[in-house]
Amino acid sequence: MKITLIGFMGTGKTTIAQQLARDMNLSMIEMDWVVLQSTGYKDMNELFTSAGELLLREWEIKLAKEWRDSDDVIVSAGGGAVMNKIVIDYLKEQNAKVIFLNTSFQAILDRVIKDSVPRPLFKDINAAKDLYDFRLPLYKKYADLEVATDGKTVEQVVIDIKGLLKA
Ligand code: S3P
Repeated sequence: MKITLIGFMGTGKTTIAQQLARDMNLSMIEMDWVVLQSTGYKDMNELFTSAGELLLREWEIKLAKEWRDSDDVIVSAGGGAVMNKIVIDYLKEQNAKVIFLNTSFQAILDRVIKDSVPRPLFKDINAAKDLYDFRLPLYKKYADLEVATDGKTVEQVVIDIKGLLKA
């Protein structure tokens, strides 16, 4: 089984993918981590500043293609994966279940303010909100399943996802 988690920055994709992978005995791949490991940048801010966003977008294509035939894996995709049809199409291959973590912008904001993950596309709140509004229909369009996460613990979201996968 191949599962791809999509959603905006700060929706909890990484944490939920880790928990789900443990529960379902699958491997977990965090796309951003592989990009950073492969390019040698310490975080996304450094990558954006030194190399530019395009490098990330090129790596997203390369990795999604590399993983197209992967099995028994959960891919936690970067928030921008839906901006490029090539990327999302590769992520969808092998009958992957694409799951959209649907979190309100307010809940995302509360989380992003507290955590320390460098997010170059979340420096300006108004610009981030515009990006969120722009992407929301894309996440919905590409998802096979959608889980609302507001007010839920990681465990609750994982239970919801497992329920949807069984149904
Ligand atoms: C991005 C999301 C980030 C990271 C980069 C760009 C985006 O990943 O790939 O900062 O375009 O939404 P997360 O969604 O895992 O934070």
